[in-house]
Amino acid sequence: MRVAVVGATGAVGSTMLGVMAERRFAAREIVAFASERSAGRAIAMDEATLTVQALSDEAIQGFDVALFSAGSATSEAWAPRFVDAGAVVVDNSSFWRMQEGVPLVVAEVNPEALDSHEGIVANPNCSTMQMVVALKPMLDAVGIERLVISTYQSVSGTGQRAVEELREQTLAVLDSEEVAPPSVYPHRIAFNVLPQVETFRDGDDYTTEERKMMAETRKILGREDIGISATCARVPVYTGHSESVNVQTHEPLEPAACRDLLAGAPGVLVLDDPADAIYPLASEAAGRDEVMVGRIRRDPSHERCLNMWIVGDNLRKGAATNAVQLAELLAERELVGRARRAA
Ligand SMILES: NC(=O)c1ccc[n+]([C@@H]2O[C@H](COP(=O)([O-])OP(=O)(O)OC[C@H]3O[C@@H](n4cnc5c(N)ncnc54)[C@H](OP(=O)(O)O)[C@@H]3O)[C@@H](O)[C@H]2O)c1
Repeated sequence: MRVAVVGATGAVGSTMLGVMAERRFAAREIVAFASERSAGRAIAMDEATLTVQALSDEAIQGFDVALFSAGSATSEAWAPRFVDAGAVVVDNSSFWRMQEGVPLVVAEVNPEALDSHEGIVANPNCSTMQMVVALKPMLDAVGIERLVISTYQSVSGTGQRAVEELREQTLAVLDSEEVAPPSVYPHRIAFNVLPQVETFRDGDDYTTEERKMMAETRKILGREDIGISATCARVPVYTGHSESVNVQTHEPLEPAACRDLLAGAPGVLVLDDPADAIYPLASEAAGRDEVMVGRIRRDPSHERCLNMWIVGDNLRKGAATNAVQLAELLAERELVGRARRAA
């Protein structure tokens, strides 16, 4: 396979290159793309060095797969051009996710949705991704009626500039220096918690991130009838999103049975011995592909509700790892390149 990585210099793009190297991704050639600003820059990948290219109609010819993580505007403009040139696009941005004919896929949850792709496959939002990996076994076993979600999201979910902003603000506070006005977030993120992830669009009192969690969860799980309420907060953590999720099931499910169910589920790691301070932590999840689940306990206010704490690396399973898994599944299912066009 010949693979393009668009946004290769960014937080997600560089993680995708690392994940491909770790998984010995079967690519004949990998070409790194980014903006004009980075053209010519060298990126190390395993033992190879990739030279970053700018996007152009000539440069995008001849790819089987293109993994995009360069923001919505780039995905909107360039994903269809890659498709016209013969590639299947796996897109990390939010632009294509809710569009008709674009499957929104989590490798462990709904891989069969890939079969209906028309050239573009969407990778879900990071906070949704990790949550549905943990919820799917519960949905299959006992059904889900309603979810009440609170997230504690890391700054790398916003990209490289946000990581830098947290670092600079933290150093300034610790050195008792004046903190420069924030440029990425509306308020200082260092030593703070912001009850806003993304924007309040068109007067909505939910943020775009909260709306994404609600809509994407229903699309991936194929269940429009699940009631969902989400509050998303940004916390001064570099990597790893944490989530408190209250799950109202259709059939009763004991916490112990839930632990057993999740312990056998693909991509999930149960860490749940709170008396010994064993539960998922962002610091433990960072750098790993599993979604960690713990603090599984009954909601004392409702007999069919469980509370749980779900943590995942937003750059890996929340973005890069799932995108690479989707590229692997597309190849396995002969849904790329010449095989796709012949079908
Ligand atoms: N961070 C996460 O946890 C996460 C999770 C899921 C999805 N996503 C999505 O993934 C995408 C990238 O996020 P990120 O966090 O990796 O952002 P980032 O660190 O800011 O990286 C952005 C990348 O896009 C490239 N780019 C920007 N404008 C471009 C253009 N006009 N043409 C080609 N390349 C361009 C940048 O290249 P230069 O270096 O040349 O500027 C850089 O490689 C976003 O759509 C985001 O919503 C992020």
